[in-house]
Amino acid sequence: MPTYIRVAGTSDVAAGAGIVATAGGKEYAVFNLDGTFHVIDNTCVHRGGPLGEGELEGDTVTCPWHGWQYNVKTGVCLTKDGIKVACYDVQVEGGDIKIALP
Ligand code: FES
Repeated sequence: MPTYIRVAGTSDVAAGAGIVATAGGKEYAVFNLDGTFHVIDNTCVHRGGPLGEGELEGDTVTCPWHGWQYNVKTGVCLTKDGIKVACYDVQVEGGDIKIALP
């Protein structure tokens, strides 16, 4: 059984947008795609930009610093082949968005 930790409340993340959330001393990027929540690591692989502050278009987020793009459902980088940020299994319980720790 994986351990789930709360990263944010469902009302914290507007539909079609993302936030940066801190849990257990680590930052996560939490996105709301029409009521379905997705969580990836917040730190862009390029130079550490905050992905949770990026613009979300469909399931693609654009890093606010230099424009690298990632799929928020998989963490896969669309800008450079072979790069990926961690992507977490999400569970919504009541008003809480929780992720499974690896
Ligand atoms: S830090 Fe994200 S694109 Fe440069």
